[in-house]
Amino acid sequence: MKHSIGGICVSIVQKEQHKPREGFATSLGVITATLGSAVGLGNIWKFPYMTGENGGAAFILVYLLCVILVGLPVMISELIIGRTTQANAITAFKRLAPNRPWYLVGVSGTAASFLIMAFYTTVAGWVFSYIFKAASGVISTTDPEVTTQVFKTSMSAVWSPLLWQWFVLLFTGSIIMLGVTKGIERITKTLMPILFLLLLICVIRALTLPGASEGLKFLFRPDFSKITGATILTAMGLSFFKLSVGMGTMITYGSYFGFRENIPYTAVKVMLSDTLVSILAGMAIFPAVFAFGFKPDAGPSLLFITIPTVFASMPLGNIFMVLFFLLVSIAATGAMISLLEVPVAYFTEELKWSRLKATLVTIISIALVGTTATLSFSTLGDTKFFDKTFFDLYDFLTSNILLPVGGLLITYFIAWKWGLKNIAREASNNGSLSNQPVINIYFFIVRYLAPIAITLILLNGLGFIKI
Ligand code: PFF
Repeated sequence: MKHSIGGICVSIVQKEQHKPREGFATSLGVITATLGSAVGLGNIWKFPYMTGENGGAAFILVYLLCVILVGLPVMISELIIGRTTQANAITAFKRLAPNRPWYLVGVSGTAASFLIMAFYTTVAGWVFSYIFKAASGVISTTDPEVTTQVFKTSMSAVWSPLLWQWFVLLFTGSIIMLGVTKGIERITKTLMPILFLLLLICVIRALTLPGASEGLKFLFRPDFSKITGATILTAMGLSFFKLSVGMGTMITYGSYFGFRENIPYTAVKVMLSDTLVSILAGMAIFPAVFAFGFKPDAGPSLLFITIPTVFASMPLGNIFMVLFFLLVSIAATGAMISLLEVPVAYFTEELKWSRLKATLVTIISIALVGTTATLSFSTLGDTKFFDKTFFDLYDFLTSNILLPVGGLLITYFIAWKWGLKNIAREASNNGSLSNQPVINIYFFIVRYLAPIAITLILLNGLGFIKI
């Protein structure tokens, strides 16, 4: 017997599947793949524009609290569930709670991965297209009017953003088709170091701009008057989205972790590195925003109108601009790989489809739904639900509702149904790691703090209660 866990035995699970399950072959691969999922448009697009819209440093502080009290514990819980069950998000719950409705948490998570991909690929499409815009020189200008105009024109066109979105889907799909080790692990191992290097170059450039200090003040000097219930919900939603938790991505990735990996430690490393990337992205963007007289609350277009001006003002700016959008594309790719893997893992394991078929069906379905998100900026701009376009609706529904509710149920399940004994065994690798104090803190947070915080923030943010 390889490893006994919560009533099931991994060797039995593996026998059932006939061939050994693919997984991440190295500890480095575990980190790069997991970090690759966390780091994405969330850091370089969402985090800066949300910080800009919600008053800067105070929002960041609330966000950090959410990351530590909610995001991280949910991440550890998901990784534990995944590695224990060696299964995708839906099957994992079926194995831990047979004949109970808990598998619906996995179903909702898998649905969330479709919805996130639907709007994520719209933005990823813009980003990929900006690599070529940067190379061609159309956005090489320090005139904000011009960059604003270029962005508005390109996102409100019909065919080109759609074609870019479909290209992004095909590109990510082709990596997923290569498999877990040869696709996900190998690609993220190559891309993550490049991403860090490119980001550092951009930060250094932004910090040496005249007037950069205003941007840093905005980023690091809190103004708490901007914080409302809705802001806190936004910050919590961002923490879920950022760490890719609340929807089974980390269950799926956890199922590829080796049994020697130290799960709590890995999660902390990923959380810290991911937060660092967000702060660095803020340090690359806000100095430029203030140096060139932009407003920090420009919303989702912030990245596309300010960054070109930063690079246009420096020697060899075009090359750096291309590199920057390449960096964002790399970040987006790592995240999209993990989003696609959630349904693909389910289809291949549970329905026994080939990886090719599973990937094709998934990307075609996402393309169909995603088209409505992309066209929200042109032909479907006036189609609104609760005052939101398709694009905004998918974003709000996933980050602010599906992921927090998923996170709440996951913490409830692991702490109240599965219990400390099972957690302690799995998180300490059957007693071979001496991390009991860490496990105790995690257990306290996941049993009391996280579920209570998520519930209160959700109810308050949606207006059901007033704190
Ligand atoms: N964490 C990614 C980002 O910040 O861009 C987005 C994401 C990836 C969300 C995977 C959810 C997920 F399952």
